[in-house]
Amino acid sequence: MAVIGTDVYLGAYYSDTVDVVDTVAPGRPRVSTIAVGPAPVLTPARRGELAWHDASYCMQQWQSCASCHPDLRSDGLNRDLMNDGMGNPKSAKSMIYAEEVKPAMWRGVRPDSYYAIRMGFQYILFSVPNEEICKDIEAAFQELKPINSPYLVNGQLSEAAKRGKAIFDSEAIGCYKCHPAATYYSDGKLHNVNTVGQLDKSDENPDTGEDKYNGRFVTPQLTEVWRTSPYLHDGRYVNMRDVFLDGKHGNNVGKVDGLTEKQVDDLVEYVLSL
Ligand code: HEC
Ligand code: HEC
Repeated sequence: MAVIGTDVYLGAYYSDTVDVVDTVAPGRPRVSTIAVGPAPVLTPARRGELAWHDASYCMQQWQSCASCHPDLRSDGLNRDLMNDGMGNPKSAKSMIYAEEVKPAMWRGVRPDSYYAIRMGFQYILFSVPNEEICKDIEAAFQELKPINSPYLVNGQLSEAAKRGKAIFDSEAIGCYKCHPAATYYSDGKLHNVNTVGQLDKSDENPDTGEDKYNGRFVTPQLTEVWRTSPYLHDGRYVNMRDVFLDGKHGNNVGKVDGLTEKQVDDLVEYVLSL
């Protein structure tokens, strides 16, 4: 944005124009546009992205999908959504490979992310989902590409990350069993990895005290996990190291508590390189 005299110039991404707002025009501010190039083609994916950022689809127009999922990713905050009952806040998820990993949501309460798009309009924006817009958002998911991790060195795994990969793929630790690389680092299954915590209290059966989902969460995909701290469904760990050092995550399958701190650092370096 630039202000020159009483005019404000704004770069407009979706229309590929510079919008000029005359702030002293009588009545409403007057807006004119300067085309920067040929009018861009609004492909379905681009229309989907536009809708993603558009709060006018929300009742009372105060939030959009991007409010919690900036850049179609996660803002890293916990929200108590209606999809799985109240009183159990969850960390916002990224849309990277969301269409590939099923079921959707941490607890797997939606069959897939396409269904979750419709439910997002209904239960978060409190509006009637428009099928065409939902289809455009599906296209935006399909075209969403992960960006390279800053932990890579010249686009390659660092030496530490290579050692970490060997641990990840080893029989003894076995991260790959639930997070197989071939399917976006998720087996698409629900597992109890001993992560039910304080914030999941409302999921307890009041009679038995047991978690009504049997303590299970869907294995999350791991691409771009370097940019989605804090970790686990309730965002309890800010640092990836703590997922393994404190949380001993993976211990029910491999001997994670037998890893030295240096091995954990290598494993973390690998995971953050994905
Ligand atoms: C108020 C914050 C908020 C807003 C606004 C929001 N979401 Fe979400 N979204 C979340 C949270 C939190 C989760 C994780 C919830 C869970 O797993 O139970 C999530 C999860 C999802 C998922 C599941 C992804 C996966 O891989 O499991 C999809 C798809 C999704 N949101 C789409 C949308 C769409 C579409 C909109 C707009 C119509 C939207 N969200 C608006 C907070 C929000
Ligand atoms: C038994 C299946 C299973 C095994 C084995 C397993 N994971 Fe997980 N992983 C999960 C599940 C389920 C979650 C989600 C748990 C939660 O959020 O409460 C998860 C979460 C994670 C997360 C957090 C992702 C995020 O977005 O917050 C990372 C990172 C991770 N696993 C890496 C690993 C590594 C590295 C190993 C090996 C040491 C491993 N996992 C072993 C199933 C598994």
